[in-house]
Amino acid sequence: MRVLGIETSCDETGVAIYDTSHTGGRGLLADALYSQIAMHAEYGGVVPELASRDHTRKLLPLIEQVLHDAKLTRSDLDGIAYTAGPGLVGALMVGASTAHGMARALNIPVLGVHHMEGHLLAPMLEDDAPDFPFVALLVSGGHTQLVEVHALGHYQLLGESVDDAAGEAFDKAAKMLGLPYPGGPHVAKLAEQGNPKRFRFPRPMTDRPGLDFSFSGLKTHTLTAIRQLEAAGELDTQAKADVARAFEEAVVDTLVIKCRRALDQTGLKRLVVAGGVSANQRLRERLAVETEKRNARSYYPRGRFCTDNGAMIAYVGAQRLAAGEHDDNGIMKATPRWP
Ligand code: KG4
Ligand code: ZN
Repeated sequence: MRVLGIETSCDETGVAIYDTSHTGGRGLLADALYSQIAMHAEYGGVVPELASRDHTRKLLPLIEQVLHDAKLTRSDLDGIAYTAGPGLVGALMVGASTAHGMARALNIPVLGVHHMEGHLLAPMLEDDAPDFPFVALLVSGGHTQLVEVHALGHYQLLGESVDDAAGEAFDKAAKMLGLPYPGGPHVAKLAEQGNPKRFRFPRPMTDRPGLDFSFSGLKTHTLTAIRQLEAAGELDTQAKADVARAFEEAVVDTLVIKCRRALDQTGLKRLVVAGGVSANQRLRERLAVETEKRNARSYYPRGRFCTDNGAMIAYVGAQRLAAGEHDDNGIMKATPRWP
């Protein structure tokens, strides 16, 4: 089955084609991405209405591009998958209505998929994809979750953030430090120059059992540290780097402690890390050490599939469409909040 995947849940227009007659990354016939980050940067965050309008402008040309890259025409498609949520409702509607319009015109099945399932299975697009079962740490701008993954569609939530997501905390810390949006990569870069010994920030919820996370207190702690430095006239470039380093260490350490617990609790030896924050190098280094100690292994999507993309949606949609799933009665789904 050749499936067109469409991702428009936030600020990236992603389109890809996945062919289920191959496995792993070889099934990916083409993928294309248009990032709106530059457009939103001047507002310091995503402006929902601008996002929807830009998806409308970019989506059809990107679909033409992937068909061209895969040397296919529309009539070669056997199904269409789109991100049905969670995300910005207007942005989701663009992908959902385009997918349904095309599917109706081509008389092929169409399916709305969960954005986080896309992130969760993005490592399946790599040549050394993990076998089931595995533990997954999903860390993006909207989610921080630990999931036990048994098979496609068989997921058990082990723990999640009770307030802010890890990526959101990175973005807010970046704003406090005067860094551009999205902040994660900028905080990480600044942290490289930071002295890890100058400040120690708290590791929230690590002193009690369980696999839930909380990052809002760390955000407040960061703000307080910045204000104190400012009041003392000491908020220079080095101080900002030291704060960035302390913040990154606290988030990474917290994530590592919970991953360690999840591996011990489940007895599993495979850890998948996905979502935007999985691009963080410090997190990767620390997890590599921890998994090695346990005779376990960590798996990541390639760099550009860590953040939002169409390939992960094409992959998940292709698996589910091939199993016979599709949207009921041609009704499109756009579900901003979808547990
Ligand atoms: O998965 P994603 O592209 O979008 C959502 O579904 O949220 O994740 C974006 C998030 C942003 O919060 C961004 O700051 C964060 O991932 N991020 C990072 C890094 N690269 C992206 N956070 C920390 N370190 C990075 N290198
Ligand atoms: Zn995402």
